[in-house]
Amino acid sequence: MEVIIRPTTESAVKLTAKIIADQLRADPAMVLGLATGRTMEAVYKELARMYREEGLDFSKASSFNLDEYIGLSGDNKNSYRYYMNYHLFNHVNIAKDKTNLPDGLAKDPIAEGHRYEAAIKAAGGVDLQLLGIGRDGHIGFNEPLSSLSSRTRAKALTPETYQQNGPLFDKPEDMPMRAFTMGVGTILDARKVVLLVTGDEKKEILKKAVEGPVTSMISATALQFHNSAIVICDAEAGALLEHKDYYNWVFKTEPQWKAYQNI
Ligand code: F6R
Repeated sequence: MEVIIRPTTESAVKLTAKIIADQLRADPAMVLGLATGRTMEAVYKELARMYREEGLDFSKASSFNLDEYIGLSGDNKNSYRYYMNYHLFNHVNIAKDKTNLPDGLAKDPIAEGHRYEAAIKAAGGVDLQLLGIGRDGHIGFNEPLSSLSSRTRAKALTPETYQQNGPLFDKPEDMPMRAFTMGVGTILDARKVVLLVTGDEKKEILKKAVEGPVTSMISATALQFHNSAIVICDAEAGALLEHKDYYNWVFKTEPQWKAYQNI
């Protein structure tokens, strides 16, 4: 795992977008793993800008999102399909039929989990999985006690996630209590993972996720098992990290980060 602390949210977002864009330029047919949530909005805005102003080409890429609320159709404005169209897919040249999310209206949740896993496999697996972290340490919607080898399935959401995401619904009580999510095991299968964490409210959970012991109570700690995991945070989210100097040293000295210093 590598941890990169940037002085501002803007520079953490730009660094994340540049890592994705550079990989897409090198491998235009890559399989992107995508996340939703407030943190990601700025990343998608930057990727859309790169498409418009720098010709970043999504035409050969495909994507798999981490999760979707159960019971919401893609045209419901709180669904993650709607979010992805609104924040990214409508603004770049990705083929919509190559963008995948679990089907929130699937009648048979177990079959839907299997279908999604098979689709990821058929696409050759996820090349780069973008992640955010929930206040309870979830990645995707892998709430506390999710098996660290779990696969895509339906999951009950915690009261904490309710508090976090309820305000995004016109009526918070309309937020579904369950969601489909890639499992922790599914996420760990991605060839590379990039976790972006911003803001003061995430500083405690980020410290536990990166520097704490691995536990199914905090799904993000499983990223410590991944051999190509990059955690990018702003100074606020990284405030409690104990080994900041070491992380900063690695970012400054490792050749792979040379081109990313001044973002
Ligand atoms: C959503 C997802 C979640 C969010 C997390 C943080 O697809 O994967 O794990 O990344 O809940 O959400 P925000 O960014 O709204 O704090």
